[in-house]
Amino acid sequence: MFLKNRHFSIVTCGLLLAVVAGCSGSDLPDSFKARFVYSDRTEGLMKEAQNGVEDLPGVKELLDERFGDPQHLLAWSQLPVDFGGLSGTVAETPAGDVVKDLKLNLSDSFTLEEGQTAVAQFVTGEAAPAVVIITGWDAEKSEAILASAMETAPAQGDLVVIGAGERLQTGRSLYMQHCSHCHGTSGDGNGPTAEYLYPRPRDYRHGVFKFTSTKPQSKVSRDDLTRVLRNGVAGTYMPSFVPMLNDEQLYDVVEYVRFLSMRGEFERKLAGELSADYSQDAVDARKADGESYKDIVSELKDFLAEDMADSLEFVSDDLATSWTEADTDDALITPNSPRVPDSPESRRLGRELYLSKAINCADCHGVAGNGNGPQTTIYEKNPVTQELYSEPGLHDVWDNLNQPRNLTYGIYRGGRRPIDLYRRIYAGIKGSRMPSFKNLKDDEIWHIVNYVLSIPFEPEPGHAPLPAGDVATASNN
Ligand code: HEC
Ligand code: HEC
Repeated sequence: MFLKNRHFSIVTCGLLLAVVAGCSGSDLPDSFKARFVYSDRTEGLMKEAQNGVEDLPGVKELLDERFGDPQHLLAWSQLPVDFGGLSGTVAETPAGDVVKDLKLNLSDSFTLEEGQTAVAQFVTGEAAPAVVIITGWDAEKSEAILASAMETAPAQGDLVVIGAGERLQTGRSLYMQHCSHCHGTSGDGNGPTAEYLYPRPRDYRHGVFKFTSTKPQSKVSRDDLTRVLRNGVAGTYMPSFVPMLNDEQLYDVVEYVRFLSMRGEFERKLAGELSADYSQDAVDARKADGESYKDIVSELKDFLAEDMADSLEFVSDDLATSWTEADTDDALITPNSPRVPDSPESRRLGRELYLSKAINCADCHGVAGNGNGPQTTIYEKNPVTQELYSEPGLHDVWDNLNQPRNLTYGIYRGGRRPIDLYRRIYAGIKGSRMPSFKNLKDDEIWHIVNYVLSIPFEPEPGHAPLPAGDVATASNN
């Protein structure tokens, strides 16, 4: 795995809010001041749920407190994001009451030029979440000289992070330069170029990505996102960023995409906790049923005061667990048996499965794989509004038209290796209408892979497959 030895120690240590990581917004002219746009779900809540009641914060403030804005990003330690910075521990409990220098064990070498300063934050222990300024570093003694004495003394073993958020900041500037004109400042897929593109740039805010190597219920992995940036998405406007961005830069921008995705997902889920009772629509319905606005607001106040903390914890724990799981070996789809060698017999079996009633790829992709099965002509209902979409065909979770791929072209957005297609069939395409076929046996999936890879080479698509030998695959697995 790429850059596996990174340390994620800020992440493991609980719920503290960590340090600011941004350039100063006040130096920027207004036209450059990008901001995160709140989602429709948040904007659809009654004003008090959005903005808070009396001194109780609403969804917007709860969100800003944890994520900041593009000029003042926050590195919220609950998120499994590598915000950057050097982590370490206090090497020995300082003697005396006035703590102005500290011996530290750092995870990597650290230098501080004459006149430079660094920001350090205590993440665990009595002193946390204190932020101190380091004005000097004695490399020999491994000792930091602090700008001023600490109010609460730290103890041996307390976790400290120096320069938290540096990586996030680099990721942000790369993103603003290379991605935001398509994917938008907030990652809503709505940058100025987006309206001219089909398919549209991904809106990250659902936390859902299509071309993953992970199991159906798992999130996207860092490796998946890196692969998308290296290869681009074939047949779409999503370009490759190699060699424009080097490995380190790819890593930084991937962390920023993950940060934006988690922000969006957190917002959706948090607003979701309130929307059943406090969306403007729900409130209108409650008023029509005779409830007074005053009572609704007072009930919301109780919710914010008594239940919101639990909701916040639930949503953030869920986020941290699921995004962390995606990078584990358990999440990766690994076939139990190697690819069944490609042969006319295997392709024939694959085609049988493709057409079978139980599996029925043809229902969407068509008998000959042209992407024109019966499902492409029906009118679907929007699952949220229950209204019919204006155009026939399938739609993805972003409400975009989502036509099944024309398999006769041999262009695969998620990669053209047999293992890529295996994973596509095993897990489906997340957020799209391409379902998971994980209950098929390994061999069955491999037969289908062999058949799919042969479709572009059939002389008359939909008829007997050609003998093996001229299939579009250089590599096995
Ligand atoms: C010219 C417009 C454009 C630019 C610039 C662009 N993208 Fe994309 N991106 C797209 C489109 C279009 C898609 C959707 C492809 C699809 O749905 O099949 C996409 C999809 C993605 C996906 C989703 C892949 C998946 O599996 O769901 C990621 C991640 C992504 N882009 C990241 C980036 C990053 C990071 C940058 C900047 C370094 C970037 N993109 C720059 C247009 C763009
Ligand atoms: C309910 C409809 C549906 C069924 C059933 C279905 N697909 Fe799909 N398939 C889609 C859609 C929609 C897409 C395009 C998704 C996207 O890119 O957003 C797709 C995309 C694909 C792709 C392109 C992958 C890539 O990387 O670009 C392949 C290959 C594929 N399907 C194979 C199959 C096979 C094989 C079966 C049966 C085992 C199958 N599909 C069943 C709807 C379906």
